[in-house]
Amino acid sequence: MILVTGATGNIGSALVEELSGRIGAGAVRALARNPGRAGFPEGVEAVAGDLADPASLPAALRGARAMFLISRLGADEEIVGAARQAGVEHVVLVSSLTAETHPHLGPARENLAVERLVKDSGMAWTILRPTQFASNARWWAGEIGAGRPVRVPYPDIGLPAIHPADIASVARVALTEPGHRGQTYALTGPERVTPRQQLEAVAAVLGREVPLVGIDRAEAHRGLAAFLGDEAADAVLDVTGGDVNEGLLRVRDTVARVTGRPARTFGQWAEEHAAAFRPANAATATAR
Ligand SMILES: NC(=O)c1ccc[n+]([C@@H]2O[C@H](COP(=O)([O-])OP(=O)(O)OC[C@H]3O[C@@H](n4cnc5c(N)ncnc54)[C@H](OP(=O)(O)O)[C@@H]3O)[C@@H](O)[C@H]2O)c1
Repeated sequence: MILVTGATGNIGSALVEELSGRIGAGAVRALARNPGRAGFPEGVEAVAGDLADPASLPAALRGARAMFLISRLGADEEIVGAARQAGVEHVVLVSSLTAETHPHLGPARENLAVERLVKDSGMAWTILRPTQFASNARWWAGEIGAGRPVRVPYPDIGLPAIHPADIASVARVALTEPGHRGQTYALTGPERVTPRQQLEAVAAVLGREVPLVGIDRAEAHRGLAAFLGDEAADAVLDVTGGDVNEGLLRVRDTVARVTGRPARTFGQWAEEHAAAFRPANAATATAR
């Protein structure tokens, strides 16, 4: 049995789907706080659990031999301990590429601490370090849906944004095929894509113009700090343009090497998620 945490999220939902198709839905357990609302594929065992409430985890972990873990949502030390206690043999952890490229930043330090917990746990591990997700474009859905210009800092600095389904595919391979234990994988998309190019891709699938307004760091910081706090807002701005470095800009071939297929483009993600940018869905998409 494989336990998937974050099973309703960008990566987890794709992973549950892909695992069900490959190893059979009956070997997949999906954890969510409200599993009744999740709509997992038929046959997947949906289980209620809250990563911020470790007491809810032993039942979810019972009989699991492997776990896909998204972290920093609760007491990671207790979560990792509960997994070991339950007999989990292999943990595939989502960290971040910034653990490699910007280890001095707060969120990267936190990811490095969870990596260390998992590595020291006695369980086998695989660490996934993805770059910026293509799905972060959902943050623009409210403005796009309302027909307003999108206000973006660093509009012409492009990172090799990754389609979350590619992170899921790498996780699926690591969870089900030999040779991936003890590996740390830096994961990117197949090409660098600037915010301006991302909005052009969204405009192309919507069949209408999506105007962009470049804003300075101070304005962007005010907007981000309101819900992330000062330090995290600064970290986001550093890694999206203010302090990017060669490691963050470089396209990696890991997705293709591990999965045997090319990484998906931002344009593919935009095509698959066009509905999120249409007016009826814009409010919901912004809230995600
Ligand atoms: N976005 C990026 O650019 C980026 C880059 C590098 C790394 N990352 C990492 O990627 C991960 C996010 O992955 P994602 O985009 O797939 O997630 P997501 O779409 O943001 O979804 C979050 C998931 O976490 C679950 N969740 C939230 N709080 C929970 C709790 N207390 N207990 C149990 N489950 C909880 C949610 O499930 P329910 O609400 O249904 O319970 C949902 O499935 C994070 O660890 C982040 O640090 C993101």
